[in-house]
Amino acid sequence: MTSLDQVVATFASHLRSARHVVTLTGAGISAESGIPTFRDAQTGLWSHFNPEELASPAGFARDPALVWRWYAERRVKACAAQPNPAHYALAQLADLVPQLTLITQNIDGLHQRAGSRNVIELHGSLHRARCTVDGSIHSTWDYEEELPCCPNCGGLLRPDVVWFGEMLPRAALETAWAAALNCDVFMSIGTSGVVEPAASLPRIALSRHATVLILNLEQETAARPPLFTIYGKAGEMLPQLVAAAFHQ
Ligand code: APR
Repeated sequence: MTSLDQVVATFASHLRSARHVVTLTGAGISAESGIPTFRDAQTGLWSHFNPEELASPAGFARDPALVWRWYAERRVKACAAQPNPAHYALAQLADLVPQLTLITQNIDGLHQRAGSRNVIELHGSLHRARCTVDGSIHSTWDYEEELPCCPNCGGLLRPDVVWFGEMLPRAALETAWAAALNCDVFMSIGTSGVVEPAASLPRIALSRHATVLILNLEQETAARPPLFTIYGKAGEMLPQLVAAAFHQ
């Protein structure tokens, strides 16, 4: 048995007996679907723009049409992409454990397309727009318009995503916080864990003696219960973990 096999087997045994599993996902889980991460998206036409300026209230106030063009392109790419085995493994896991809370920092909608329900979107969604005047939420709007307008009040719509310097949606954050406090297994997948407050969630879970797994491309594989780290691709490792826990 390699050390990776050992980590998978040991973590799988925790997963098998878990009552409440929390998964926190980031850009890395969609990388194998071909969705570029935030910074990788700055290619071609967009390479001259600073993403932190495009994704900010000040950037939108300065040039809303430019910001809408950027989000429209990201939305088209997300719609063209397909969920990968990591998204499907998490959707399957929800049916295998008594309770699963799926929290994501991604805005691409791929978890839902893989079949996950009740996804907690901390950073909003590419597939929704919000009226800057009356706050109403829209799942369809005139995609041809440079500056789409609210069908209710005519106000300017904006992407329903969280921009730099903005608060996270309160209800989503509270649910995520409560889940981290009350879970017995926490899995952080494909996130660098540098953006707060999502970065605090695994620490909260650890402080409550949950078993925590960090899975991304940067960590070294190690088993130091209750903190496990696996270096690997989510699309390969998650199906392996679910199989090791429930199908062997
Ligand atoms: N499998 C697992 N992990 C992966 C894979 C993969 N195939 N590919 C990349 N990763 C890991 C990387 O090792 C890295 O740790 O995913 C992580 C991606 O980190 P970020 O690009 O920082 O993404 P994320 O953590 O989601 O960023 C958080 O910051 O840029 C803002 O608002 C944006 O929601 C985003 C937030």
